[in-house]
Amino acid sequence: MIAAPEGGEAVAFMLRLINVHKRYGAGEQSIPVLRDVSFSIGAGEFCAIVGPSGSGKSTLMNIIGLLDRPSAGEVMLDGARVDFTAPDAAAQVRNRTLGFVFQSFHLLPRLTAWENVALPLLYRGVARAPRKAPALAKLEQVGLADRADHRPSQLSGGQRQRVALARALIGGPKMILADEPTGSLDSVTAGEVMGLLRDLNARLGVTVVMVTHDRDLAACCDRRIEVLDGRIVRDTAVAA
Ligand SMILES: Nc1ncnc2c1ncn2[C@@H]1O[C@H](COP(=O)(O)OP(=O)(O)OP(=O)(O)O)[C@@H](O)[C@H]1O
Ligand SMILES: [Mg+2]
Repeated sequence: MIAAPEGGEAVAFMLRLINVHKRYGAGEQSIPVLRDVSFSIGAGEFCAIVGPSGSGKSTLMNIIGLLDRPSAGEVMLDGARVDFTAPDAAAQVRNRTLGFVFQSFHLLPRLTAWENVALPLLYRGVARAPRKAPALAKLEQVGLADRADHRPSQLSGGQRQRVALARALIGGPKMILADEPTGSLDSVTAGEVMGLLRDLNARLGVTVVMVTHDRDLAACCDRRIEVLDGRIVRDTAVAA
């Protein structure tokens, strides 16, 4: 989607939320978790979502990631309105456009690093032999070419998260969504994973949206969106 703000240059939006509400539960008993959330994220942005525990960050990420549907409002992703009433269509958009990174890595323990990275290709029906080369290429991109045959238990936390990043990249996503990607890592390793994310953003132009509790890491992002009690209370460009 292209929008031309008054007097400004046309901006290509990767993501746009319009008056999104999310309630859990039914009827009178339902609890509002997101309240009238509207914002846009441009292609290539590197954005932090911050806020206290329970403020709605993961709920917001699940809606951005098309893993959950809003109770009201619209989500535009990569130029198209997402139709949450058609789960297959939403899943297709998700698989084509998004890569996910989680706090606890979500690697399969019995698979090697390259087999974990190649999983999204397996789900797409790609045979084993042609899965390997692209998986190795992604491992190389995250600096782990020499660990391709290690299992997760043989890797450090930072290395595991780099495998997860390679897996997030293998489908060629336009946007990476990371919910506390460094939450299980010590500060030095967290800084390394953050550096890698920044590098991928700069080199590949992939949009990054990450939830973090870490002020220092949020300060390394270009933009900080603050969530409080289900609302966006502040949205600031971070000074370079
Ligand atoms: N499936 C659910 N059913 C009911 N309530 C939920 C559900 N998921 C989340 N909530 C509630 O929504 C609110 C926001 O939760 P959410 O997980 O989005 O917070 P968060 O900002 O990610 O917190 P944290 O920093 O602890 O991860 C919380 O009050 C939580 O209890
Ligand atoms: Mg959360």
